[in-house]
Amino acid sequence: MALLIAIADWDDAAWAEALAVLRARTPLRIWPDLGEPADIRYALAWKPPHGLMASLPNLKAVISMGAGVDHLLADPSLPAVPVVRYSAEDLRLRMRDYIVQNVMMHLRRHADYAAQQRERVWRELAQPLASEVRVGFMGLGNMASGAIEILVAMGFALAGWARSPRHDMPFPVFAGRGQLPAFLERTDILVCTLPLTPETRGILNALLLRGLARGGPLPGPVLINAGRGGLQVEADILACLADGTLHAASLDVFEEEPLPATSPLWAHPRVFVTPHNAAWSSPMAVARFALEQIDIMEAGGTPASLADRARGY
Ligand code: GLV
Repeated sequence: MALLIAIADWDDAAWAEALAVLRARTPLRIWPDLGEPADIRYALAWKPPHGLMASLPNLKAVISMGAGVDHLLADPSLPAVPVVRYSAEDLRLRMRDYIVQNVMMHLRRHADYAAQQRERVWRELAQPLASEVRVGFMGLGNMASGAIEILVAMGFALAGWARSPRHDMPFPVFAGRGQLPAFLERTDILVCTLPLTPETRGILNALLLRGLARGGPLPGPVLINAGRGGLQVEADILACLADGTLHAASLDVFEEEPLPATSPLWAHPRVFVTPHNAAWSSPMAVARFALEQIDIMEAGGTPASLADRARGY
C-alpha cells in the first residue's frame, strides 16, 4: 500500500516536517515519481493533472488538500472512488479568523478610515453596533461555522442562504434560488464560502449584488468572498463598487490566480485583496488529517466529509 502525494504548487520547506510524519507511517510516492502505479491505494492531491488518478488501477480514495474539491471533480477521467474533502479543525479555525477579521474591518469602517488616514483627516464616522448590522452567509458548512459562532456571540444579526432548507442554525436560513432575493434584501455584509459547482459559478454577479440591502447602517453593502474566484464576476464587482451598489469588498479568491498585476482590484481603495490564504492548508494538519482518514478507510469505515459527486462538493 502506498500513498501518492500530487500537488501542483509544491512548497518544499513547509512540507519537510509533514513528509516525515507521513513517511513514518506509509510508503510514499511523490508525483511525478509514481513508481509502480498499482501499489498506490490513496492519493493526497491539490490540482493534480487530469488523467493522473485514472492511471492508478488500485486507487481506493482521493483526499483533497483543500476544503474545495472542484479541482478534482473537474477531471473528466476521475475514477469513481470516494473523494474526501479536507475538513480539519485547523482549517476551520483559520477561516473563522479571516471572516471575523474582515467582518470587523467593515463594521469598523476600516476602508473609510484608511482613506482618511491617507489624507490626514481626523473625522469620526457614524459607527453602528454589531447588532445593527445584518450579516448574510452564503454557504453554511464547515468553512463558515467557526465565524458563525463568534459573530452570533457578538450579537450580529445573522441569516444564511443554502441550496436546501436548514433547521440547525440559530438564525433564519433562506433556501434555494426562490428565497435568494429575500435573503439579499436583509443583508448588509455578504459572506460567501460556497463551493464552486456548475450551479454556483458566477453567482456573485451584478444582479445578485443589486439585491443587497439598501439604506443599511453602513455606507453601502459589503461583499466578502472566501469561497472560490469562479463564484464572482469581477467586472460586475468593480462596476458595483463604482456606482455605489457595493461600498467595499474583501476578496481572497479570484477568477484568475494569482490575481493579474493589471487587475484594478489591486488598487481599489475599498477592496481588501489577500492571496487565497483565508484558510491555508497547513501541511502538518493536512498530513495528520490524511493519515486519520486512511486509517478509517483501511478499517472499513467511512471517512469524514465525503464529497457528493452528483452535488459537486
Ligand atoms: C482552499 O481553497 C480550500 O479549498 O481549502
